[in-house]
Amino acid sequence: MDACCEPQGYDRVFTGRQARLDAARYRKSGLTWDPQRVVDLYRDGTIGGDSVLDVGAGIGDLGLELLRAGMGEATSVDMSPGYDAAAASLLAEAGLGERSRRVIGDVAAHPELAGPADVVTLMKVVCCYADAGRLLAVAGGLARRHVVLRYPRDAWWLRAGARGMALVGRWRRSDWRFHIHPERELLGALEAQGFSVTRTERGGVWRLAVLQRG
Ligand SMILES: C[S@@+](CC[C@H](N)C(=O)[O-])C[C@H]1O[C@@H](n2cnc3c(N)ncnc32)[C@H](O)[C@@H]1O
Repeated sequence: MDACCEPQGYDRVFTGRQARLDAARYRKSGLTWDPQRVVDLYRDGTIGGDSVLDVGAGIGDLGLELLRAGMGEATSVDMSPGYDAAAASLLAEAGLGERSRRVIGDVAAHPELAGPADVVTLMKVVCCYADAGRLLAVAGGLARRHVVLRYPRDAWWLRAGARGMALVGRWRRSDWRFHIHPERELLGALEAQGFSVTRTERGGVWRLAVLQRG
């Protein structure tokens, strides 16, 4: 594990306790719907390549399952050190340590933390970061082929919820806030780097976009 930078209080929201709960759930039941969808898109050829960089990876379960599905290398990066012990245990149990790397830090502020990958995933991550344009500029710059983005839709009731959740961040003395970024800004930040949207999936709260370079 490589570490860099101040966690900005994200470790008080994305805690070791949460990581242990997530890891226990994953051991028992496998991936939840969102990361499983990415593995399915890899298996059906919608996204392709031999390496993945999962930004805001949490316990790193998506990277592990993409390795099991056939990818050659996975890098997980997350700002919160709270996830690290659980992620390291899962990696050791899977015996996939040689093909996987884990980094702690803010990849938007420190792009040098991660190298390029064929696929860059950001699953429920732009909503945890104020400067989504900067985060996506870095993510797009590191993606050779695809970016997969999961983000909340821009609805008034979600913006109201985000204001409520800001109280949680303040209470935990963390810089963490839940952000609803306009979809046009998110996709536009990647389109400006030469990506085009090849697939979108729309749920009640969350949207998924797959973008391809060129
Ligand atoms: C809501 S969690 C999602 C975790 C996982 N992707 C999932 O879907 O279960 C968002 C994660 O993104 C991380 N994160 C947010 N901005 C980040 C950044 N700029 N660099 C690295 N990690 C970031 C947070 O620390 C947090 O663990």
